[in-house]
Amino acid sequence: MEKNILITGGAGFIGSHVVRQFVNKYPQYMVYNLDALTYAGNLHNVADLESAPNYEFIHADITDLGKMREIFNMKNISHVIHLAAESHVDRSISDPLVFIKSNVLGTATLLQVAKETWEKSNTDSHLFYQVSTDEVYGSLELGKGLFEESTAYDPKSPYSASKASADHLVRAWHHTYRMPVVLSNCSNNYGPNQFPEKLIPLFINNIKTQKPLPVYGKGENVRDWLYVIDHAKAIDTVFHRGELGETYNIGGHNEWSNIDLIKVLCDTMDEKLGRKKGTSRALITYVKDRAGHDLRYAIDATKIETELGWVPSLQFEEGIEKTIDWYLSNDEWLSNVIDGSYQEYYQQQYKEV
Ligand code: NAD
Ligand code: TYD
Repeated sequence: MEKNILITGGAGFIGSHVVRQFVNKYPQYMVYNLDALTYAGNLHNVADLESAPNYEFIHADITDLGKMREIFNMKNISHVIHLAAESHVDRSISDPLVFIKSNVLGTATLLQVAKETWEKSNTDSHLFYQVSTDEVYGSLELGKGLFEESTAYDPKSPYSASKASADHLVRAWHHTYRMPVVLSNCSNNYGPNQFPEKLIPLFINNIKTQKPLPVYGKGENVRDWLYVIDHAKAIDTVFHRGELGETYNIGGHNEWSNIDLIKVLCDTMDEKLGRKKGTSRALITYVKDRAGHDLRYAIDATKIETELGWVPSLQFEEGIEKTIDWYLSNDEWLSNVIDGSYQEYYQQQYKEV
């Protein structure tokens, strides 16, 4: 194979779309999907790829140094696209240490094993791609400014601080050991297969089942939303055309206050479910704000657009409609996640464990 790519976190939301993008588009690459299958890992997300000849799933934890060494050597890993992480801000507030372990120690472990392995290799065709978030830049005022690649890191939550630490480690390995790296920092993603703890899938499910919609604070916080498949395509672009040592911000110039976005979800779903207009808005319930809640995220994506030619392919209205349709027609995926039975799939499929 031309490249042996290790994609970490490929059973999660974004990772599963990235794995699919690479397996289907590049038969000349071998894709290893490495995932610890935490609560957020779901092999149903990649079930369609199981029989592809250039795909293999590896059940492992990125903090396991010995196991990472074994995998890099056995599979002759030449490239890494690193997505594995704890990803939910609310969980990072209630249980921060697991974020430090997976996001910081996990990234350092992968970097160190990649360094040891690639130093011994007789080719220099290697890449460590760190997939990161715009949350490392902190929080913007309403209506003022955008995150640029040169914006100083100012993370505010345990989640964003752990991702910022990981990004710093990646840059340190590049600077100190000449590790070939590239980084991207993306805005909030939405689309199929997102775990229903994040705003959009949680609210779609609550609207469907007519449960309260818990809006933190006044609902005035702003997020910049990008369809997940556009993020996967951007990662493909940066992987192939990004300059070593560089960082690329990824976003769709698509800012929404939470409350405006929630109203779109409510009205679109009322229409799709044949409910009277206003039925779902009545479920909106203002609740206690998230501790340290970042007010606004917004990405300036000029660099990736002008230097690498990536632009998002979907308008938000189309993306949100596709997303709602996906959740409404994938009842089984959702109910398996909600009742926990998705975690049994691994035991059935992979008997060696
Ligand atoms: P997710 O929570 O849906 O998936 C994370 C995956 O990583 C899961 O499959 C989980 O099992 C795996 N994982 C966690 N800890 C692991 C460990 N120690 N070893 C091996 N696997 C482990 O997350 P997501 O939303 O798909 O985010 C993926 C990446 O993209 C993360 O690095 C996140 O910081 C970044 N990101 C996310 C967003 C977003 O809006 N969700 C935006 C920008 C960047
Ligand atoms: P989330 O999907 O958790 O992403 P992030 O915190 O990484 O941006 O939340 C998106 C926005 O929605 C954020 O401002 C918090 C808010 N939110 C609610 O108001 N209620 C909820 O139940 C959740 C999960 C989020």
